[in-house]
Amino acid sequence: MFLYGAGGHAKVIIDIILFSTEYKIEGIFDDSPSSKSIYNIPIVKSLSENISNPQVIISVGNNKIRKKITQNLVATYLKAIHSKSIISKLDVEIGEGTVVMANAVINPNSKIGNHCIINTAAVIEHDCKIADYVHISPNAALAGNVIVGEGTHIGLGANVIPGIKIGKWCVIGAGSTVIEDIPDFSVVVGSPAKFIKTNK
Ligand SMILES: CC(C)(COP(=O)(O)OP(=O)(O)OC[C@H]1O[C@@H](n2cnc3c(N)ncnc32)[C@H](O)[C@@H]1OP(=O)(O)O)[C@@H](O)C(=O)NCCC(=O)NCCS
Repeated sequence: MFLYGAGGHAKVIIDIILFSTEYKIEGIFDDSPSSKSIYNIPIVKSLSENISNPQVIISVGNNKIRKKITQNLVATYLKAIHSKSIISKLDVEIGEGTVVMANAVINPNSKIGNHCIINTAAVIEHDCKIADYVHISPNAALAGNVIVGEGTHIGLGANVIPGIKIGKWCVIGAGSTVIEDIPDFSVVVGSPAKFIKTNK
């Protein structure tokens, strides 16, 4: 399998793949690499032309760029789940291309979309619905029945109270507490979280 993106986020995914999965990483694709390898895994300038439909995880932290890549790349997308994450066996769904990092918790009946990042020690409580290309940052916590729209980034250590609906392509600032629904494309910060601008 291949990774797509050779930045810092890739290092965490490599760690998960090496020590929590059976996958073998053949190379890391990057448009403008700053080195020739990461942890002895070669950085390649193109996904092998001999392999049609390569197995890939996109290892880019930016939600919009991950989406753009998937729109242009025909691939089979794998998921990577850290062995020390806790994922309920009761009705949890995790989409293709999604990565779940160490100490993350996903509780019953929560659905995680495609190409999401459930980062270190993030907590997704019961009955949450997370759309595609979402990033839940380290130590962020979603209470039960929270809905998060496509491409939204929940910042480090943010908290969301039960039943809140957060729109698509929003940014929730680090450390924020969300206590009311957030419209699409909003950037909100603080506790309680307040709108500061539109996410262009
Ligand atoms: C919300 C965020 C995206 C705003 O970044 P920005 O667009 O560059 O905005 P600015 O830094 O210009 O800040 C705008 C205002 O919001 C305030 N602000 C920014 N982030 C804030 C936060 N997390 N909590 C409270 N206030 C915040 C700033 O103090 C500033 O206030 P002022 O206008 O009174 O001076 C960013 O601060 C943030 O929190 N990003 C999350 C990063 C993260 O968690 N990454 C995870 C990596 S794994």
